Amino acid sequence: MNQWLDDRLHISRLNDKFLRKAFPVHHSFFLGEITLFSLIVLIITGILLALAYEPSNSMVLNSFDPGTADKPNMLPAAYHSALKINAMPFGDMLRRIHHWMANIMIAAAVLHMMRIYFTGAFKKPREINWWIGMLLLIFAGLTAVTGYILPYDNYAYSTVKVIYAITASVPWVGDWLAQAAFAGRFPGDGIIPRIYGYHIMLLPGILLALTGAHMLIMIKQKHTQPQYAKRLAYKKIVGVPLMTQQTPIMLLLALLFTGLVVLFAAFIPVHPIEYFGPPSSSGVDNIKPDWYLLWVFGALAIIPGFEWEVLGGVINAEFVGAMVFPGIVIGAMFAVPMLDRSKDNQYYAENPTNHPVRLAGGVAFMAMMIVMSVAGYKPELIAGGLLTTQNANTILWILTFLVPAISYFATIGIVRLIRAIREADERDALAHAHADD
Ligand code: HEM
Repeated sequence: MNQWLDDRLHISRLNDKFLRKAFPVHHSFFLGEITLFSLIVLIITGILLALAYEPSNSMVLNSFDPGTADKPNMLPAAYHSALKINAMPFGDMLRRIHHWMANIMIAAAVLHMMRIYFTGAFKKPREINWWIGMLLLIFAGLTAVTGYILPYDNYAYSTVKVIYAITASVPWVGDWLAQAAFAGRFPGDGIIPRIYGYHIMLLPGILLALTGAHMLIMIKQKHTQPQYAKRLAYKKIVGVPLMTQQTPIMLLLALLFTGLVVLFAAFIPVHPIEYFGPPSSSGVDNIKPDWYLLWVFGALAIIPGFEWEVLGGVINAEFVGAMVFPGIVIGAMFAVPMLDRSKDNQYYAENPTNHPVRLAGGVAFMAMMIVMSVAGYKPELIAGGLLTTQNANTILWILTFLVPAISYFATIGIVRLIRAIREADERDALAHAHADD
């Protein structure tokens, strides 16, 4: 069979070029793979959901409760089809797996990124893959957000309202931009077909193209090597070949991981669209994005309302909180390979404690994201009595800078301690070695 295929497709060349690649054996390298498996499961479950979903805002008769001839009960087709999917055998389960997998993919991509950052794997020659990874993270987030809108329940409707307002807040071109992105003024009839196009074609197409480039670059540049590889064979690539060792390991991991997510989805339901009902003009108060976008909501919550007129355009708090601030955060993340130019990572994943400023900077950044995400809960913190309306902004602003600053200096202190202990151990070991001589 192999010979038959080889005569026609020259697969042995493919085998030599790609399938003999050595993969390092280290658990942290599975994070990128889990992100990849999640993307594959999302595409499969997404295709199945698309078979039953109706991408339309048009009103259709509610087949569960048609009402009377005088007063027919009408629902948007998209919302109605989501209810129908819930009622189909395994339909609800499919929605759950798709939903939870999207969350896990973003969480795995963030953890994967943390591994890359803390071990310095973004350094030359891997800067391009860091930038492609950043794009992957942004487009994965956009894909998830557009997915939330598709069931078109009252919550999704209120979410589009907020995103429309944010897009329209861009000075000078916002109104035009929002209409172009959402197929007319909110809430136009073209919203659902437009978002559907983004969610099932444009964004997955971009994700697949970027993932392909990410993988090809990774194969070309080879993985960074775990520290133990240094001791085994200095400056040599240590690992197991893709065929036949790594592939079964990956398949096993993929099956185990997917099985666990299916088990999780069987018990944990997703956002209950029937509870929120179809869109209503009043919408839902106090909507919240998923955990990975809460920090943007935090920025919106703590920036006090203002409006400046500049050359005929308006710069307001919405634009600064939801566009300028995230732009600065994302820009800083893109700039990581330019900011850290120490040259010692061609081959090996670095020990984070050997780079205290990078480590402490990363910890401070994460602390800031967490505080801002908590700030996204400002109305709840006030309602729960933890803050008062008067002091809420001041306290949240102070915490936004104080907690990261404390985290930064605490990390530097802990790293110094760890290094002092390590150096003392090394001195002891050396002294013992001399004594033995
Ligand atoms: C959909 C999202 C993503 C997928 C599917 C993905 C997948 C992968 C896989 C399978 C690997 C090889 C295994 C590993 O090193 O863990 C890898 C390596 C890499 N990824 Fe990603 N990744 C994604 C997002 C990101 C992000 C957000 C970043 C950083 C901003 C990033 C930067 C890198 C870099 C620099 C490497 C090479 C690491 C090395 O050689 O040690 N990736 N990616």
